[in-house]
Amino acid sequence: MSSIDVPLKDGGFGSTRRTDNWWVEPILVFLGYMAFIVYATWAALQGNNYLCTTQCGGADYLSPMYSPLLYTSAPAWWPAFLPFSAAMLILPFPGLFRFTCYYYRGAYYKAFWMDPVSCTVGEPRKTYRGEKKFPLILQNVHRYFLYFAIIFVFILLFDGYRALWFTGADGAKHFGIGVGSLVLILNPILLGGYTFGCHSFRHLVGGIKDVLSGSPGRKKAYDCVSCLNRGHMKWAWVSMFFVGFADVYVRLCSMGIWHDWRIF
Ligand code: FES
Repeated sequence: MSSIDVPLKDGGFGSTRRTDNWWVEPILVFLGYMAFIVYATWAALQGNNYLCTTQCGGADYLSPMYSPLLYTSAPAWWPAFLPFSAAMLILPFPGLFRFTCYYYRGAYYKAFWMDPVSCTVGEPRKTYRGEKKFPLILQNVHRYFLYFAIIFVFILLFDGYRALWFTGADGAKHFGIGVGSLVLILNPILLGGYTFGCHSFRHLVGGIKDVLSGSPGRKKAYDCVSCLNRGHMKWAWVSMFFVGFADVYVRLCSMGIWHDWRIF
């Protein structure tokens, strides 16, 4: 069978024959991530307005960026030259879970590193090192951050439950529902949709088995995780922005700019 040699041309960075708007997605991803990173960094450094109590009618609304609230002021071991915020002890765990997520990696490699910027579009580099060498081999810690992320989902669920109890004039806790309660309950549900659709979790639940048909319970769990996994990108975006919104909600209510509406 005869063959024809077709010379491959390296057209340089950004060159392509694509005629679609391939550049829109990386730009949107870049802007979306930057918006969240800037806000989360700012909010984490504030160290205040993360808890809404009397301003929220006796509620106990805690921003997810500060949960679990381990310290309200700098502990003795905290280096004096560093400004303290309780969020600094929390955010590295969910932050690194997302940073090493398979979806996020694919997205920010394109949007931030342009490596590659998109399919069949010229890259800025000539070599490909993959994720088998340092430093990108460290992305494999993702499977371990998964365990922390699962713990956080349950901590935030507990915060959602606590947001249903309001301190009354008698000093006792009474059941109630405010808009803030719904925000703090929806937040861990969205985070759960993201976390339990993780590729590493899917592997843990069923991927490690060659045959699932003999384990109906495991098969069912695997199917559920696979279902979440198919929408992993959407869960990633929605849950990320909702964490930011939950912080905004608690912050603005505690500052008296927004007023929590008591539904029940
Ligand atoms: Fe995205 Fe694990 S792959 S959270």
